[in-house]
Amino acid sequence: MSTAFVESVDVSGGEIIRPETTLDTAPTDSILKVRGLTKRFPMPRDRFFGPRPTLTAVAGISFELVAGETLALVGESGCGKSTVGNLVLNLIAPTEGTIAFEGEDLSRADAARWRARRRDMQLIFQDSGSALDPRLTIDRQVAEGLDIHAIGTVSDRLDRAHRMLEAVGLGGDLVGRYPHELSGGQQQRAVIARALVVEPKLVVCDEPVAALDVSVQAQVVNLLQDLQQAYGLTYLFISHDLSVVRHVADRVAVMYLGRFVEVARRDVLFARPAHPYSRALIGAVPAARSRHGRKVHPVALAGEPPSPMFPPIGCALNPRCPFATDRCRRETPELRSLAGGGLVACHHAEGLP
Ligand SMILES: Nc1ncnc2c1ncn2[C@@H]1O[C@H](COP(=O)(O)OP(=O)(O)OP(=O)(O)O)[C@@H](O)[C@H]1O
Ligand code: SF4
Ligand SMILES: [Mg+2]
Repeated sequence: MSTAFVESVDVSGGEIIRPETTLDTAPTDSILKVRGLTKRFPMPRDRFFGPRPTLTAVAGISFELVAGETLALVGESGCGKSTVGNLVLNLIAPTEGTIAFEGEDLSRADAARWRARRRDMQLIFQDSGSALDPRLTIDRQVAEGLDIHAIGTVSDRLDRAHRMLEAVGLGGDLVGRYPHELSGGQQQRAVIARALVVEPKLVVCDEPVAALDVSVQAQVVNLLQDLQQAYGLTYLFISHDLSVVRHVADRVAVMYLGRFVEVARRDVLFARPAHPYSRALIGAVPAARSRHGRKVHPVALAGEPPSPMFPPIGCALNPRCPFATDRCRRETPELRSLAGGGLVACHHAEGLP
């Protein structure tokens, strides 16, 4: 690892320089290309004979990430956000689809290749308490990442760990503490240090601040943004919290029952959500709608999301959507471009009241 990596952090904030990510789905210089990603989980049989039922957690999604950008995945609990993150990191194997990282098709990679690539693709998730080993001081845990990937010499790994911990705001006597001697926010900073010390390029952040107090959430979100700027990180940022997403995302993909239903630049989505499901989500969060000074015409959805074991025929939202027509009950809408920017999977997006 270059020492510049841990020494160049400007945690003072400042303007975050973003790459030109004006494209809605098909950036040309993408670091990650996902095509037709599908994950079906086999479920227990309810009868001894007969086919084994499956649960489709992710149903053929495609997207790309430009180096340095943040793509947020949003949607209700169970829509498949974490499954997408786990698939991208190869923590679970896809049923169908391909994942290419820096042009290399990782769907064909063997275990050794994935181990080598893991350094480039790290995960930060919600539950920092369980992510840390209670028996090891945090500097040892951060140094462990360097051990695993044989980065640097044995003698300077602890030094690098200390610099990384300092970069996330855990310098001084905090470096030698055990996880239980840290607050929730400090534990999450330690988890971030452990993920970043190996110099990843892509970080999947799965609800990274959901378990923290609101005041601490803002600090950790700002830290993630500062680190992204300092190290040129690319984030796949999973969250159900639209006010956090509005703050961090360059583009947003809205998920419903394992599919992307809308993908758009953050400003476009929050100002003019086109899909009834996006309108329901954004319309329900006053903080999310008011920033752009426009009123999002909210949509009231009926009932709860159906089980992904039994997705509705046609558009998956049709049983809940106030605009559903016969066509919606027959045909599954594909993602398509909208004149105002963004992609939407709705037969009637342009003509809705
Ligand atoms: N290992 C598994 N075996 C069977 N079903 C699974 C498994 N992992 C996830 N699922 C199911 O897949 C669907 C998507 O789950 P996932 O965890 O990706 O949702 P999520 O959007 O991350 O939800 P949350 O916001 O609650 O974290 C859910 O119905 C879940 O029950
Ligand atoms: S396709 Fe039909 S059911 Fe689906 S979101 Fe659009 S209007 Fe509603
Ligand atoms: Mg999840």
